[in-house]
Amino acid sequence: MDKKQLAGVEAANYVKDGMKVGLGTGSTVYYTITELGRRVAAGLNIVGIPTSAATEALAKELQIPLTTFQECPRLDLTIDGADAVTPDFQLIKGGGGALLREKLVAAASDKLLIVVDDGKLYDSFAGLSIPIEVVPFAWETTARRIANSGGKWTLRERDGGPFVTDNHNYILDTVFEPVANPGRLQDVLKAMTGVVETGLFIDMADVVIVGRGDGVQTLSRTDTNF
Ligand code: A5P
Repeated sequence: MDKKQLAGVEAANYVKDGMKVGLGTGSTVYYTITELGRRVAAGLNIVGIPTSAATEALAKELQIPLTTFQECPRLDLTIDGADAVTPDFQLIKGGGGALLREKLVAAASDKLLIVVDDGKLYDSFAGLSIPIEVVPFAWETTARRIANSGGKWTLRERDGGPFVTDNHNYILDTVFEPVANPGRLQDVLKAMTGVVETGLFIDMADVVIVGRGDGVQTLSRTDTNF
């Protein structure tokens, strides 16, 4: 198995019968969702809330029952990938552009379990790309505010035009150097008019499952009851 698959499949073991589960987005959690589909077909009883249109389509294909926040305001567990993880469990997410729904789903979950390969482990966020979802109207003025705060930005593109998220917004990929305090950076960015959400997930992850060449390593935040 490759590293992403090792981490993704291991995460499925945390999903117990009767759980309400947030289903993440990306090529690592793909393996978790596929494994959950297999277990649902074998009798596992769960409901999920997807974090993107792509994951919704995958879950439906696998016949994983889905629910809504109207029916189910709290989730037991969300499993998702990440683009970067620091030793103190801070995350960058949004490489696939699903950061807003990912954060909404994670924030409604009792626990957040992250699946990554060992190439996603970093000492700090300095020099790493941090995606920021912005309102398309006047996005240039939002980008200027980000630049005035020290961020270099590029507008994410696809097929010759701006990349458009599931929520009909744009993504600015930004680099701040250094990032001495990710929580403070999150607060500064979130307070900017035009910013919808950032890919900084601060103090949200409880467990990180890392796929390595020789197996999986499970890192737990000490204060979690997992
Ligand atoms: C989606 O927007 C992202 O947050 C993904 O969860 C993240 O980019 C990890 O994706 P991979 O598992 O494909 O690397």
